[in-house]
This record gives sequence, structure tokens and C-alpha cells, in this order.
Amino acid sequence: MAYRHFEAIEKRTWLLGILTFIMVSLGGLAEVAPLFFQALAVKPADNIKPYDPVHLAGRDIYVREGCYLCHSQMIRSLRFETQRYGHYSTAEESVYDRPFQWGSKRTGPDIARVGGKYSDAWQRQHLLDPRSVAPDSNMPAYPWLAKAGVDGKDIAARMRVLRRLGHPYSDADIDGAEKALEGVSELDALVTYLQGLGVVNGPQPAPGEAAKAQ
Ligand code: HEC
Repeated sequence: MAYRHFEAIEKRTWLLGILTFIMVSLGGLAEVAPLFFQALAVKPADNIKPYDPVHLAGRDIYVREGCYLCHSQMIRSLRFETQRYGHYSTAEESVYDRPFQWGSKRTGPDIARVGGKYSDAWQRQHLLDPRSVAPDSNMPAYPWLAKAGVDGKDIAARMRVLRRLGHPYSDADIDGAEKALEGVSELDALVTYLQGLGVVNGPQPAPGEAAKAQ
């Protein structure tokens, strides 16, 4: 195209604006559109299961208390991350996380694989009084969790909704929710959830990959 054509466009701000908008939109579409199909293509492996009632209840408390505001659950595939936190996070690990808890703020450490790192007793003590086990911690205490029980009916209702969204819960799973949550405190549920992070639905490394990630 001859120079004067460009000049004609550049001298008309409105035309330049419209053409710029079209070009940026096309570029954006080319980048974003494939991601939608990629998301649909993520099929969970056989051992990836939706949360059982206790883990689900714990996860809800995690979301309610805003733990994601200080903790990410997303280990990036960079050496210094995998050395500190373990195998990098994979898409299929969070297929049953609605909404996902990847987060982007790390006031505290990433906890995608914190399951089994400490004992249940440590986790309980840490939630009730963080500074009693980590003196310099600025994590808030959550003493009310020990006093509140989990509502089994509420969790059963949630499981029904999740089933509509595609989580493969059976009728028996949902009917069993109330029983599974009998006498379970919010603290019990949250600790069970934390102890499952990176363990329940853990990563599926290709052969040889686990060794590399260490
Ligand atoms: C104000 C920020 C903040 C909030 C909110 C917060 N944490 Fe923390 N958390 C921290 C910091 C800082 C540490 C590191 C020091 C320590 O162990 O307490 C930590 C540590 C942890 C650890 C130990 C991680 C490890 O690998 O050692 C767990 C588990 C944890 N937090 C869970 C939670 C849960 C569950 C919630 C919500 C109920 C929560 N945190 C809310 C800041 C926070």
C-alpha cells in the first residue's frame, strides 16, 4: 500500500481508532479462542474424583474465610517453585474445584501440596493460634471454627448442584452426606481439606517426570 494510504488513515483519528480496535480484537480472539477449546479438552484421569462431603465442606470454609487472599494453590513450572513446593500444578487437579483456588497472592506460602506436610494436630493448633507454632506468622487466628458444626443438608444440596454441573456424584454419595458430616466441626472439615491438598487428586506426572521436578 502506498504511503498516502497510511497517511489518509493516520490523519483521521476516528478511522485509525476503528481500524486499531478491529486489529486488536482479531489478535485477542486468535489468542483467547483456542483456550476455550483447550479447557473443554481437559479430561480428568480415573483417579481424579469430586470432593467427598467432608473435603467439600472444608473447601467451602476455606473459601468463606478468604484463605485464598494470602495463599495460592498454583505451583508454577519453575525450578525454584517445584523445589520448594513439589510437582507443579496441573489443570486436571482442579477440574472439580468450583471456583478454583489458584489465587495470585502469596502473603503465606503456596499450599497446593501442603497435605501430609504437618500432623492434624499441628494444623488444628495453627488455625486456632498460628503464633503458637509459627511465632513470626501474621496469619489470623480462626478460633470460631472449633465451635461451629457443618450443616450436612447444606452440603448435600451443594453436591446436587455440582452434579448438575457435571461432577459425577451418585445418589448414594449425596444421600450419605448428612451422615458423613454428623458431629464434624468446621475445624475438622477444614483440616481434612488441607490434609488432602496435593494428596486427593494429586498430580499425574508422566513416567520419569516426578524425579525431574524434585
Ligand atoms: C493475612 C494472610 C493470611 C491469611 C488470611 C491466611 N494465612 Fe495461612 N499463612 C500465612 C502466613 C504468613 C503463613 C506462614 C507462617 C505460618 O506458618 O503461620 C501461613 C501458613 C499457613 C499454612 C502452613 C503452610 C506451610 O507450608 O507451612 C497453612 C496450612 C495455612 N497457612 C492455612 C491457612 C488457611 C486454611 C487459612 C484460612 C482459614 C489461612 N491460612 C489464612 C498467612 C495467611
